[in-house]
Amino acid sequence: MFNKRIKIKELLASEEANYEATVMGWVRTFRNNQFIALNDGSTNNNIQIVAELGKFDEALLKRLTTGACIKATGEVIASLGKGQKVELKATEIEILGDSDAEKFPLQPKKHSLEFLREIAHLRFRTNTFSAVFRVRHALAFAIHKFFNDKGFVYLHTPIITASDAEGAGEMFKVTTLPLDGNAPKNDDGSINFAADFFGRSTNLTVSGQLEGELAAMAFSDIYTFGPTFRAENSNTTRHLAEFWMIEPEVAFNDLEDNMNLAEAFIKYVIKHAMEHNKEDLEFLAQRLEEEEKQKPQQDRSELGLIDKLNFVVENDFQRLTYTEAIEILRESNHNKKKKFQYLVDKWGVDLQSEHERYLVEKHFKKPVILTDYPAEIKAFYMRQNDNCEPGRQTVAAMDILAPGIGEIVGGSQREERIDKLLKRMEEMHIPAEELWWYLDTRKFGACPHAGFGLGFERLVQFVTGMGNIRDVIPFPRYPKSAEF
Ligand code: 4AD
Ligand code: MG
Repeated sequence: MFNKRIKIKELLASEEANYEATVMGWVRTFRNNQFIALNDGSTNNNIQIVAELGKFDEALLKRLTTGACIKATGEVIASLGKGQKVELKATEIEILGDSDAEKFPLQPKKHSLEFLREIAHLRFRTNTFSAVFRVRHALAFAIHKFFNDKGFVYLHTPIITASDAEGAGEMFKVTTLPLDGNAPKNDDGSINFAADFFGRSTNLTVSGQLEGELAAMAFSDIYTFGPTFRAENSNTTRHLAEFWMIEPEVAFNDLEDNMNLAEAFIKYVIKHAMEHNKEDLEFLAQRLEEEEKQKPQQDRSELGLIDKLNFVVENDFQRLTYTEAIEILRESNHNKKKKFQYLVDKWGVDLQSEHERYLVEKHFKKPVILTDYPAEIKAFYMRQNDNCEPGRQTVAAMDILAPGIGEIVGGSQREERIDKLLKRMEEMHIPAEELWWYLDTRKFGACPHAGFGLGFERLVQFVTGMGNIRDVIPFPRYPKSAEF
C-alpha cells in the first residue's frame, strides 16, 4: 500500500517517540542541506525531517526545494531543537513531485494578500490561507451540527430559478440561447424565452428562502446552505458575486424567536471553531495584530481576535428598533459634525454601512440586532407590523450587525396573511401569477413563520479577522474576476 502515512498533526501530537512513521507533504524549507520543514495541511506546524549528512545522494538533496512534494520514512525521535517535541530522522526520502525553485511563486517569506489572490491556486499552501480554510471548514461543519442537533431538515433549494426572491433584480441570467443577436424574438423585438432551455427566462438564485418557506410548511424547521449569486457591481471588501448563505426557516416562530435562534446559532458556531481550531485562530490573531500595527491608532480594533470572539460568545447582542437607531444616529456627534458621508436626517432612510458600523463599533461596541425597519426599504415578504404610526409602516425585519463587518444576517417574520401579502406585492410590482406556488402556502394551512439568511463568508471573515471577503472563499467571484 502506498498511503500508509501518518498526518503531521497527529505525529506532532504524539507523546512517545522511537517508532517508525511515514509522512507525505510539501516542502516549506530545506536548510543546511539537512533539515526539511514539511507541511501536509493538517496543521500549520511543520514536521522537521532530518536528512543526516552523507546519508542521501546529492542529486536527491538538490530536489528538496520549496514546494516539492515528498514522502519520507524514518524514526520519530525526541527533538533537540526548540519549537517541536518530535522530529523524523529519515531513512528514506522519495520525491513525489518536483518543484522548480526558480519558478515556484511562493517563497519562504511574507507575501501580500493581494499577490496571493493572484495565485489563489497555490495560496492554500501558506500558513494564513490554510488556517483560514480550516476554520471555514470547521464553521461549515458546526452549522450542520447545530441544525441537525435541533432536528432541522437540510433542504437543497434550486440554483437555477425563474423568480427573484429578494425582488432586487441583481441576477445572473441563465440561458442557452445564442448571444450573437440570433436569439429568437417576439413580435415586439424582445427575446422569446419560450424558445429557451427551460421555456422561460431563468437566472441564478439570489436566495433559497422562498423555496425554504414551502418546506417549512411541512417539516416545521428547515435550513439551506448553498451558493447564491448577486450581480451587484459592488467592489467592496464585503461583497462577492458568488457567496454561500445559510437560510433557516421555521414554522411557528415569530420575530423574537427568530432573533433568539440567530443569536444562539452564531454563538454556537463561533464557540465550535474556538474549541476545535484553537491553534489556527491563535495564528490568525497574531497575523491580525501585526496587520493592525500598520494602521493609525484610531483605526485599530480595541480587542484582539480571540478576545473579540470570547466577548461575542459571552455577551447578549444589543437589540433595538430601526426607529431607536435612527434617533441615536441623528443625535450623534458624528452626525452633527457631519462626519457621515450620508447624514441621517429623517425617519425612513436606509442605513448605510457607515451608520451600521457607527452603531456597532462606536456606540454599543457589540453585535446589534436592528428590528422593525420601514416597509419601504425591505422585501415584499416581510410581515407588516400592526398598529404603526400613520405614515410609518414598519415590517418585522431583523438585521444583525457585527463589529468590523456590518450586516452579517438579514431576516424577518414572514407575511402569512394572504390579503396583506398580495397588496404589498402589487404595490411593489411583483407579479402574483409567477409566484402562485409561494402564495399557495398562504392558502393551504398558512401559519406564522420566520427565518433569516447568514452570509457565510462574512461569518468566516468575522471569525478569522480577515479584512477582505475575497480572502475567505477559495476562488472568489467579483466584478471582472472569475479566474481559476
Ligand atoms: O439580507 P439578504 O439579502 O437576505 C436574504 O437574502 C433573505 N432572503 C434571507 C432570509 O431571510 N432567508 O442576505 C442575507 C445575508 C446578508 O446579511 C449578508 O450577510 C449576505 O447574505 N450577503 C452577502 N455576502 C457576500 N456578498 C454579497 N454580495 C452578499 N449579499 C448578501
Ligand atoms: Mg440584507
